[in-house]
Amino acid sequence: MKKGIQVVVITGAASGIGRACALRLASKGMYVGLLDLNESEAMKVQSTIELNGGKARTIQCDIAKSHDIQQANEKIVSKWGKVDVVCANAGIAGRLSPIDSMSEEEWDTTMSVNVKGTFLTVKHAIPYVKKQGGSIIITSSVSGNRMFSQAGFAAYSTSKASQVAFMKMAALELAKYKIRVNAICPGAIETNIGESIETSPNVKKVEIPITFPEGDQPLEHGPGQPEQVADLVEFLASNRSSHITGTEIYIDGGESLLRG
Ligand SMILES: NC(=O)c1ccc[n+]([C@@H]2O[C@H](COP(=O)([O-])OP(=O)(O)OC[C@H]3O[C@@H](n4cnc5c(N)ncnc54)[C@H](O)[C@@H]3O)[C@@H](O)[C@H]2O)c1
Repeated sequence: MKKGIQVVVITGAASGIGRACALRLASKGMYVGLLDLNESEAMKVQSTIELNGGKARTIQCDIAKSHDIQQANEKIVSKWGKVDVVCANAGIAGRLSPIDSMSEEEWDTTMSVNVKGTFLTVKHAIPYVKKQGGSIIITSSVSGNRMFSQAGFAAYSTSKASQVAFMKMAALELAKYKIRVNAICPGAIETNIGESIETSPNVKKVEIPITFPEGDQPLEHGPGQPEQVADLVEFLASNRSSHITGTEIYIDGGESLLRG
């Protein structure tokens, strides 16, 4: 491997935001570890990167399992020798439910993937990233940080707020290794996340009606695109953000300011 080439590990790289980030960072010459539960879709991302002359390796992995994520990092390091950038991006919306009818299992599933999975992704990358320093980017959300009006989102929003607290703890703890840690907080982005959402019929009972006659996305009157999020991730992965750590950055076209 040529000197100066950066290695990035991206979780949830088979779809949506993770996929867009993988394609973008590969196009900038980074070697990309594509970690996802969905191996066949991740392989398609790998093929696209390779067809464009880039380097990628797919590793099937459940971020909620310590062993999976540890082994994935080991495989990347045995192939390319290091990890410089981590995109802790994989996440699920889970089952949307009012709190009093939400099962413990529903709560645990969302927390396990979004919170524990983020912790494990960062934990198992640290031994490698600390060798030379780098950047960790956690995909949080407007939900739980600047937006609280989504009925049934108690577990998801709590998980996304937890990621921001974790990011700030990690930023201070890892600063001495020259590792920057930041979170991105997207609003609605056009991805496949809808496929991971189940909605309890009881959600209707806790909905508070709010209407936005002119829509709730004031800047672009529609959801953002994964490539717009990749613009931000490319910046946070690069030295152009060398003095930025411990920060959450909203990327939502103003949606969360309006909906709150
Ligand atoms: N799309 C949005 O509107 C939006 C808004 C705010 C935040 N986010 C966050 O963005 C991140 C990416 O979501 P997306 O919108 O691109 O969704 P997506 O469903 O298109 O992609 C998520 C990917 O994560 C993978 N994944 C899910 N659970 C996993 C696990 N346990 N281990 C490994 N991989 C797993 C899926 O297989 C999928 O490929 C999530 O953390 C999500 O919470 C999305």
